[in-house]
Amino acid sequence: MVQGEDLSLLEVRHLSVSLRTREGEIRPVSDVSFTIGKGEAVGLVGESGSGKSLTGLSLLGLFPPGAKVLSGGIFFEGLDLLAQEDSALRKIRGQRISMIFQEPQSALNPVLTIGTQMRELFKSHTDLSDDRIRECVSDRLRSAGLPDPERVLRSYPHQLSGGMRQRVMIAMAIALDPHLVIADEPTTALDPTVALQILTLLSSIRESRTKGLLFISHDLSHVRRISDRILVMYAGRIVESSPSRAFFETGPLHPYSRALLASRPEGTGRTRKDAPLPAIPGQVPPLWSLPTGCAFAPRCSRADERCRTESPPWQSEGEAGALCFYPDTTPLGAPLHVA
Ligand SMILES: Nc1ncnc2c1ncn2[C@@H]1O[C@H](COP(=O)(O)OP(=O)(O)OP(=O)(O)O)[C@@H](O)[C@H]1O
Ligand SMILES: [Mg+2]
Repeated sequence: MVQGEDLSLLEVRHLSVSLRTREGEIRPVSDVSFTIGKGEAVGLVGESGSGKSLTGLSLLGLFPPGAKVLSGGIFFEGLDLLAQEDSALRKIRGQRISMIFQEPQSALNPVLTIGTQMRELFKSHTDLSDDRIRECVSDRLRSAGLPDPERVLRSYPHQLSGGMRQRVMIAMAIALDPHLVIADEPTTALDPTVALQILTLLSSIRESRTKGLLFISHDLSHVRRISDRILVMYAGRIVESSPSRAFFETGPLHPYSRALLASRPEGTGRTRKDAPLPAIPGQVPPLWSLPTGCAFAPRCSRADERCRTESPPWQSEGEAGALCFYPDTTPLGAPLHVA
């Protein structure tokens, strides 16, 4: 046990994870540090391949083959997760920390009905009677926006639509009332009305003031709706951590975060929905050949020689901070909002 701060639910300290790939060894999680407080929802954003899912999976000790923790620590409710035996981690998983996986098929067993899988979850973690389990299972499915639980319970995963499978996963993730929920792109397969319903449900997780949420998403409008704080990842690193309000109202500090914000449809003042979305110029560098200095420098309009040769420092601005030599503190003004 460590002497954890009272208000902190999860603390990740300087976590680095390496992964063996065909192209060589990469570091998809590199010196990652952040905390999630009790009652806090933290959004994690970044382009595809930036390391968001691997960061989430690391919190559950679910590493893909070839992955290795190089350094750092993960502390949950004062418990050092990296020091736990597999059996202890299995108990924590699902019950105290749960994850809504980006790939629903990785969490659902194709040869068992949803009912069997959900009842099993309760049986393995609680002493509830069969009748009470049946009630709980139906209740969780309804909360996740599945109005006909009986039909869902009789179905096998392949008999449900992608959106329904995703809602089943959400029902399973909240089933045991966990203290931390990691939601990895939980709204991608859902139509806008159901997505909003799910956001409201996820948002309610933290209302007890004892629980927390890590919300991983590409959709900045969803992240804005749900998160108290925003973490931005780029090439395996957290490059910004800012209160949501400061991020969206005053403006983010990191030029990459600003570029992400400007690439949103509503960030550009696009009037036609079908008008092309402005992309951030350039490509995400492959993790096996990152440039020297700041990994974003080749795409950054503020970059100079120093950015291309030296690793940027973490610079704080009140409660916000960014991994950048030149954090942008100009208030977000008209330029981002006019076409
Ligand atoms: N099982 C794996 N085997 C090999 N490489 C992997 C594996 N899982 C992830 N990676 C690599 O690690 C990096 C980070 O992947 P990760 O899935 O965490 O990104 P992400 O930010 O979640 O992306 P997305 O937004 O597309 O979900 C990527 O370069 C990816 O190719
Ligand atoms: Mg992902």
